[in-house]
Amino acid sequence: MCGIVGYIGDRKAYPILMKGLYRLEYRGYDSAGIALVNDNGNLSVYKAKGKVSALEATVQDKDISGTVGIAHTRWATHGEPNVVNAHPHYSKSRNLALVHNGIIENFKILRSQLEKNDFHCISETDTEVLVQFIEYMQDIHKCSLFKAVQLALKNVTGAYAIAVIDKQNPDQMVVARKGSPLVIGVGKSENGNPEFIVGSDATPIVEFTQEVIYLNDEEIAYLDRSGKIDIITLSNVKQTPQVQQISIDINELEKGGYPHFMLKEIYEQPDAILNCIRGRLDTENKDVFLSGVIDNKNVFKNARRIIICACGTSWHSALIAKYFIEELCKIPVEVEYASEFRYRNPVVFPEDVVIAVSQSGETADTLAAIQLAKSKGAFLYGICNVIGSSIPRATDSGTYLHVGPEIGVASTKAFTGQVITLMMLGLSIAKVKKTITDEKLHFLVGELINIPDKMRWTLEHNKSIPEFAQMFTYARNCIFLGRGYNYPVALEGALKLKEISYIHAEGYPAAEMKHGPIALIDEEMPVFFIAPKHGMYDKVISNIQEIKSRNGRIVSIVTEGDTVVGNISDRIFSIPDTLDCFVPLLSVLPLQLLSYYVACAKGRNVDQPRNLAKSVTVE
Ligand code: F6R
Repeated sequence: MCGIVGYIGDRKAYPILMKGLYRLEYRGYDSAGIALVNDNGNLSVYKAKGKVSALEATVQDKDISGTVGIAHTRWATHGEPNVVNAHPHYSKSRNLALVHNGIIENFKILRSQLEKNDFHCISETDTEVLVQFIEYMQDIHKCSLFKAVQLALKNVTGAYAIAVIDKQNPDQMVVARKGSPLVIGVGKSENGNPEFIVGSDATPIVEFTQEVIYLNDEEIAYLDRSGKIDIITLSNVKQTPQVQQISIDINELEKGGYPHFMLKEIYEQPDAILNCIRGRLDTENKDVFLSGVIDNKNVFKNARRIIICACGTSWHSALIAKYFIEELCKIPVEVEYASEFRYRNPVVFPEDVVIAVSQSGETADTLAAIQLAKSKGAFLYGICNVIGSSIPRATDSGTYLHVGPEIGVASTKAFTGQVITLMMLGLSIAKVKKTITDEKLHFLVGELINIPDKMRWTLEHNKSIPEFAQMFTYARNCIFLGRGYNYPVALEGALKLKEISYIHAEGYPAAEMKHGPIALIDEEMPVFFIAPKHGMYDKVISNIQEIKSRNGRIVSIVTEGDTVVGNISDRIFSIPDTLDCFVPLLSVLPLQLLSYYVACAKGRNVDQPRNLAKSVTVE
């Protein structure tokens, strides 16, 4: 939540910062701002309410010169989204400007301390307090900006990734992080001169350099126009910068001809899943190799229990994994909302394996949940998509999804990537625990490797969804029902629809309907059944009949060729046959398409739904 970007080098900072903001806009889009030390030495701050495009319009006739600057796209936490509360914030003297992602929890205490010393904030934000405090430190200690940032941050409780520039020292930028992500790109301009591009993630950076430094928590970096970089910790320990190579294809950050990132990401799933299983599923010998499990064989073999912590869509994929891993590995699996787990003093044993599932690898609650589990001695395993993000760096081992950057706020390819990765994990654990025969392993892997083709089939054979979605826009509520492996898919279908179309939707295990929710059914209520010819097929048919006899409108996801469910449904969408446990990888696709097209038909901003942000770095 909130994206920050910074540039120092010999090129014009403005276009680099602006492009960076567009790349980071998925992290928040209620206001945006930019600060530049102009060629004439002024420190200009421009801000606008709304999207980055509104900022771009605002600066049309302004001085946007300068080769050092910082910028921000905001998801409001403290203070409504308006121009005053937008970042960057000036210090009292207007010599400093700062952008921030995170939350300063003790900002009220700091603010009153500042007020007593004649430093007054004009915004309602926690961030402005920080820039004022840094200047206050400079005043009383007569020290450099680098030192003042360190002194100020020692007084701060909370999470931050910050970038600060100083009009009096335009050849430097200071950045720091704790709990919020920050990546420093180390590059060279066209003239061969050193430059640094700073971002909340690598997306604003990859166009300019593949060399990055991931700042660690409680580290502060001094970046100098000459290419010098110094890193110290809050407790004053000098760190050696560790430069790493990243590889993100720039095309993955573009819409590639699709109207929205979400649609592109839905259609990318067959290829994304192929990338995810590459090198992990042996297609010839029908085997699985997950280095995270192989390297920690004994941990998994002796694990007493698996606890999976996640939020939102990632929680849904974890729920599918519970069914799969318990069935295959005969080990109890608990799936926890990270936000609940972290605050309820859970029982965690040192023999537990705690798995964090997170697309972004930055979700604050998931990160805090695993930190708690770590303090209780558990082994931590991360399943994340964003390389170098906080969760993979905080865990003992893990597996990346490798499905490519997911930019649409509604998660699609990361969900199927998580499900298949968790299944590969389950198969690997079953191997080390010897709870699976070779025949069964070969059989399951043999079908898993067919999934990308079956996904392709599903996407190609459901071309009537856009037209169906048009008819569907009248709905004010709807219900998604499934059983067994498809219960989490029902939850995911409901979440997708509500988050991008703003239609109220609920997912339930189908048999739970008669314990209350069935009272909602009337001729106006669309009910989605995930009813493949597997699992509790006959029981799901009975559940459909229960809804039909109460005049509910029934839309079903069925196995190709099924006529039984077709005869009792108002509309069906087909998926190819697969094993019961792998159905979620296919049954979710028509639901993703449906929510996408309903949202488009209602004129919603699909990639940037209201009130949401992609990476939830606040609790
Ligand atoms: C829904 C969605 C969210 C995320 C949740 C966790 O489409 O994207 O529910 O799944 O915020 O995010 P990650 O996976 O980044 O931890």
